[in-house]
Amino acid sequence: MNAIDRYAVLGQPIAHSKSPRIHQLFAEQTGECLQYSALEVPAEQFTDVVTSFFANDGKGLNCTVPLKELAWAYAECKTERAQLAKAVNTLALQKDGSVLGDNTDGIGLVTDLKHNHGIVLSGRRILILGAGGASRGIILPLLEEVPEFIVIANRTLAKAQQLVTEFAGKGSVSACSYTDLKGQSFDLIINATSSSLTHELPPLPEGLLANQGSCYGLAYSNKATVFVIWGLENKALKSLDGLGMLVEQAAEAFYIWRGIRPKTAPIIDLLNAERYFATQL
Ligand code: ATR
Repeated sequence: MNAIDRYAVLGQPIAHSKSPRIHQLFAEQTGECLQYSALEVPAEQFTDVVTSFFANDGKGLNCTVPLKELAWAYAECKTERAQLAKAVNTLALQKDGSVLGDNTDGIGLVTDLKHNHGIVLSGRRILILGAGGASRGIILPLLEEVPEFIVIANRTLAKAQQLVTEFAGKGSVSACSYTDLKGQSFDLIINATSSSLTHELPPLPEGLLANQGSCYGLAYSNKATVFVIWGLENKALKSLDGLGMLVEQAAEAFYIWRGIRPKTAPIIDLLNAERYFATQL
């Protein structure tokens, strides 16, 4: 009898992760037989856990904070988007026994923006707030949509400038500090800072969001984040959090592993309904 194909998400902490539920829903929807669990893994045990996982019927892993850079180093071969992101969120066992590393975060964001929310990226002025790992993962897929330009604003300017150096050959991208944002306006503002975790916002000047512009925060929560509220207060056409991106990046990983693309809309609707009712209790 063949053993059931095993998948898991690794991180620390991991108890809050919605990934097991999302992949279980994908498996039910597509009729795929698999098991997906969440494993709390400290960074120093990462290599041993991953090696043992793939040696014991493990077919694929998702890696989240703080393990994406370690997953990048572990993967024997990588897609271009993962290579440039210097972070891997999806590991897949290949037929020849090697492990492929990919980063599906950026494509998950682009799919959610374009297909789920009808937000046009081509020819638009895009501002990314933050220059950490989350920003690094989304720059190439956004540049591939050929926006007019991308500006990366960060508290520590040197980190934004470093990203510009790495991605300059891929499209129009520049760096600035938050004070330099005064007088500029953008069609889409993406919050990729970790400031939502502490319910803080970077200092954003008035008039930063163009008329009919939209806001997208990569973080998600049952309640509106401070950035989603900032977008609403600044008359955003759409002010969204990252729940759709979470489901879309998972769908892309599922496709890499199983060769089948699940329908994401019903899953996003279900998770949105669940979090709506969670706030009513
Ligand atoms: P992640 O992997 O989530 O991107 P990270 O690599 O630690 O985490 O990066 C966090 C990002 O959020 C950085 O751009 C950080 O700015 P600095 O590089 O200047 O530290 C940004 N950040 C965190 N808290 C912030 C705050 N309160 N205001 C503005 N930016 C903040």
